[in-house]
Amino acid sequence: MKVEPVNSDDNPKKVANSLGWTIPSVMKLLKEGNLYFKTIQEKTGHTIFRINLGVEAFALCDSQSATAVFDYSKVTKDDGFGRLKFNKNLTGQIRPSIFCNGEVHERYRKFLMDVFRATSVDYLIKVTNEAVEKHFSLWEKSYTGAGIAKEWEMDILRLCSDIVHRAILGGEISSEASHNWLMGILKKKRSALGVKTKFFSKAIVGYAILTNGIKESPHYQSMIKLADKRSVSEEEALNNILFSILFNYYGGCSAAFRTCAARISILDENIKSELIEDIKSAIDKYGGLTGQALCQMRKLHSFVLENLRMSSPVNLIFGRAVEDLMIKSNTGTYKIPKGKLMVANLFWAHRDTRVFDDPLTFQALRFFNNPDLKNYLYWEAGPFSKDQCEKTHQCPGRNIAIPSIMLFSAYLLLQGDYQLGSEPQWTGKKIRRLGTPDEIITLKKFKYKSDVTVSLPEAVLNSKLKYDEMTAENNNSQCPVDSEA
Ligand code: HEM
Repeated sequence: MKVEPVNSDDNPKKVANSLGWTIPSVMKLLKEGNLYFKTIQEKTGHTIFRINLGVEAFALCDSQSATAVFDYSKVTKDDGFGRLKFNKNLTGQIRPSIFCNGEVHERYRKFLMDVFRATSVDYLIKVTNEAVEKHFSLWEKSYTGAGIAKEWEMDILRLCSDIVHRAILGGEISSEASHNWLMGILKKKRSALGVKTKFFSKAIVGYAILTNGIKESPHYQSMIKLADKRSVSEEEALNNILFSILFNYYGGCSAAFRTCAARISILDENIKSELIEDIKSAIDKYGGLTGQALCQMRKLHSFVLENLRMSSPVNLIFGRAVEDLMIKSNTGTYKIPKGKLMVANLFWAHRDTRVFDDPLTFQALRFFNNPDLKNYLYWEAGPFSKDQCEKTHQCPGRNIAIPSIMLFSAYLLLQGDYQLGSEPQWTGKKIRRLGTPDEIITLKKFKYKSDVTVSLPEAVLNSKLKYDEMTAENNNSQCPVDSEA
């Protein structure tokens, strides 16, 4: 959706000011999360209003207005997300693609898109299958049901980390270092007393381990050749790869994995059987689990999209207006002055009653029954149905993200028999939980149904990362899942 430039004939509504004092506003945000945005909406009667998130921003809280931050000809990116700035010490002083603008952004983005295209869905299936076998066996030994429920999240993160590293680098790097780096990337180096924080101290050690791990990975030299073709230096390439693998891929998918695991545990038995049938019949049709089989799993695809609608790992997308803008919303048209920060709230855009029926209810087959709704799914910072291009910040990893989440969910549905410690709840209050349930997910018992075999055809078992076959001009290997589903 295009944002209208300001026209003197337009008669915009006054933007309600709900800024308040910074500390109480931030406290409310931390306590109420997305519900804080709803409270202001109800109080003011507008879906666009000014809010204090530690920085002042214009909040856009419905499906129509949220699209304003995706018009990348009219917004620019800052060095972080609102008041959370990224720590440059943990990216070799390089600003990663997500925070860049203009020519630099375009160079980095083209390079990253080249890198991600080397990962075929078949190869993703192969590495996921290996990781699942290893981790499900470990989980069965750890969660016997004998004692009290134990935290499950770190185990899911480790599984995700194994998949992510192998899917892009072709080898594993330390999941502990990844976790420590991630814990520090949006935090300051020093506390108010001038002392280095414990997060930073661990993260900087993690940074050294990770950059060495990437440099020693089997495909590093091929990646650097791709970078050279896009005029990206080795230092820029290394730090962009690091940031995209860990912050974007691992950060996003590990949250979606946890959410899907929790959803599956409380899924209606009939729907669960339908999903299992959907998976099995596609596998049978293609003589094993392949990329083509995965595209046939339309119901599983819908289940994953419904998770991304209700529990998007990223709730807030920021953008700064490069000119005065007129933005349309459910409650009228508003003027956002040049230079002002905007924040689209995806939690509410994905719950817009003008678009989604009964938006507060999880409906696993919502997108299967109504595929057009994909036009209003913005989890990747842009309409899901829109093709990727080099001039946007829309997630360039979606052709890896969706198959990754589908595969993890398929294996859990087929081979996991498990019981959580308590029923998961999603109130929307805890933005920092990245769409996962409010409380840490605990597990009582995990049974690995290894007798339910998932066969992988030779072509999948022999698949490899394709860096050496790629050139910057000729690399159009497309993930089939979204184009066909
Ligand atoms: C469920 C998983 C994922 C979610 C929810 C997600 C979400 C997003 C969002 C919202 C943005 C834009 C952020 C902004 O503009 O503020 C983004 C950008 C990005 N994502 Fe993803 N992503 C996911 C998976 C992935 C994967 C698997 C990869 C890589 C293989 C990836 C790589 C990137 C990169 C490199 C950017 C920056 C793009 C640019 O600025 O041009 N993401 N992602």
